[in-house]
Amino acid sequence: MANFAIVGATGVVGTKMIQRLEESSLTVDNLYLFASKRSAGQMRTFRGKDIIVEELTEQSFDRHIDYALFSAGAKTSLTYAPIAEANGVIVIDNSSAWRMNADIDLVVPECNKPTLHRKIIANPNCSTIQSVVPLGILHQTFGLKRVAYTTYQAVSGSGQAGINDLINGANGQKPTNYPHPIYNNILPHIDVFDETGYTKEEVKMINETRKILSLQDNIAVTATCVRVPILNSHSVAINVTLDKPATIEQIRQLFSTTSGIVLVDDPQQNEYPMPIYATGRDEVFVGRIRKDYSLPNSFHIWCVADNIRKGAASNTVQIAEFIEQNKALYPALH
Ligand SMILES: NC(=O)c1ccc[n+]([C@@H]2O[C@H](COP(=O)([O-])OP(=O)(O)OC[C@H]3O[C@@H](n4cnc5c(N)ncnc54)[C@H](OP(=O)(O)O)[C@@H]3O)[C@@H](O)[C@H]2O)c1
Repeated sequence: MANFAIVGATGVVGTKMIQRLEESSLTVDNLYLFASKRSAGQMRTFRGKDIIVEELTEQSFDRHIDYALFSAGAKTSLTYAPIAEANGVIVIDNSSAWRMNADIDLVVPECNKPTLHRKIIANPNCSTIQSVVPLGILHQTFGLKRVAYTTYQAVSGSGQAGINDLINGANGQKPTNYPHPIYNNILPHIDVFDETGYTKEEVKMINETRKILSLQDNIAVTATCVRVPILNSHSVAINVTLDKPATIEQIRQLFSTTSGIVLVDDPQQNEYPMPIYATGRDEVFVGRIRKDYSLPNSFHIWCVADNIRKGAASNTVQIAEFIEQNKALYPALH
């Protein structure tokens, strides 16, 4: 039994959070919905009850709220998450604001657990979440030596503005969110470029993978992030070098018995993970597992997941579910 708030409740991720919370077995006594002034007064439905969207203010957390799920951008999180935390609220934040802070947990429940040293918990970047689910179990079993990602990311990862650019682009309109048309095009560009030529999205994937999996300095991680013209579900081509010897059969066996992973790997029958399988699901789909003959003990893995569900809303709700179901681990909550 708990009171929840969703900050950014009218956005793409916030809307999915309402749905995912509704699907959850969590008992939600009260749900409060917040957005900017623009959307204040709008109505949303949760488990048959109408809820009015409120404008987020510094006073929003002056009431009994146990969990606040934030998805309203880094600037909003930087300002309001500490206010909520100071009011005793557990904040689970979807933005990039807190992820790399040393005292903030960055959690994918299949890989690591919140310590709750701070009441702000960060939800990782969408492509990182789906990638660390299979990599986590490989690391645990064989150890990792090197990871190279190439992503194929859907426009819903840019929120409503990205979706609009793809849909309007199909009707001949110019983009307003991306620097180039995304319709009938591919952009090797997600977030801003730094002085080294990497994008912030690529740096996020590298750093967040290291933090979630507690990788030692000698394990190499690199990434190329690409926006593709599909509405939903990200795909990641993962190239991985393992520390201990492994076979394709062992990896398939591991994935087929790990909770949260669906193995779809029968290329002779044209069966492999695709966005149309993953959309609407919380699991991470993996397949096309094959040896990389250019490097010792290395493998290619194709990994697909719903970026709005597992990559954002579902992972956030799963963190709250974990804490609620394991309160004995957190004496400070009693
Ligand atoms: N889309 C993804 O795949 C994904 C994955 C992981 C993480 N995220 C992160 O989740 C966040 C939201 O993404 P989204 O895709 O849902 O974006 P979105 O569709 O653009 O929604 C943004 C939400 O934030 C609210 N908001 C904006 N400024 C605000 C303010 N000053 N005060 C209160 N609320 C404010 C908006 O409210 P109004 O309706 O009032 O404008 C809206 O509810 C971002 O930090 C994003 O990086 C997104």
